[in-house]
Amino acid sequence: MTGMLDYDREADHYDVTRGGDARAASAAAAVRALLPPDTTRLADLACGTGIVTVRLTRPGRQVIGIDLSSGMTRIAATRLPGRITIGDVTRLPLADASMDAVVMIWLLHLMNAPAGAAALTEVARVLRPGGTLLTTVDKNDAVFATDDDTTALIKPVRAAYAAPQTDATGRVTDLGAPLGLTVTGENAFPGTGQGRSPRRWREHLLAGAFTWAKAAGDDLTALCERLQALPDQDRPRPDPVYRLLRLTKV
Ligand SMILES: C[S@@+](CC[C@H](N)C(=O)[O-])C[C@H]1O[C@@H](n2cnc3c(N)ncnc32)[C@H](O)[C@@H]1O
Repeated sequence: MTGMLDYDREADHYDVTRGGDARAASAAAAVRALLPPDTTRLADLACGTGIVTVRLTRPGRQVIGIDLSSGMTRIAATRLPGRITIGDVTRLPLADASMDAVVMIWLLHLMNAPAGAAALTEVARVLRPGGTLLTTVDKNDAVFATDDDTTALIKPVRAAYAAPQTDATGRVTDLGAPLGLTVTGENAFPGTGQGRSPRRWREHLLAGAFTWAKAAGDDLTALCERLQALPDQDRPRPDPVYRLLRLTKV
């Protein structure tokens, strides 16, 4: 998958750079609030380091984690020994109708459109009738959707240059419908500690952290000048809020 971060190299500092336990606890709480109480067999796909996965366990529930990266699964296995497998969500090593629930936190936005579609097809295959999919949507929009002076400047420039997102809500629901996956709920969780100050925004934009910013040329230069003119250059703006969608398989 071109453009995807190297999660094997990322593994050792993934947790601390993604909001650590606070973010994981919020994400897991949002998941648990949408899980039907009779969820016994649960697969966390793209489980990463297992920092969310481990918070979905409870007595009587079989929780497994699957991830493509050996570096990430090595860490996840320390949290959930014997329950983590290396695997690809586009070819799941799971039997048909074998899961009550499938969780995908921060996965679909990383995939290209055909891979995302293949992942949803696989999820529909492994869920039992009445089973639950919980997935984040609009992930990359979240940091630009906060209500503050930085995003007021950045959002229109991004809108002009960013490509459509694989995890856009409309796209996920359109792909889910013919697979028998219907939206039955939603929730949200904060990206604790991820709000950026104007100065940090400028550094991120200029460091090439966003594909769309690299394409923005003079508009990027102008945007950075406007960010530099904002007050409170080192005060972080509000944390982003990530959306979680529940789809139920008919
Ligand atoms: C942003 S991390 C999210 C990890 C975890 N869900 C969390 O919330 O901390 C994305 C993860 O997706 C995994 N991944 C990417 N493509 C995958 C695929 N096709 N199959 C399985 N895992 C994949 C990566 O290895 C990485 O661990």
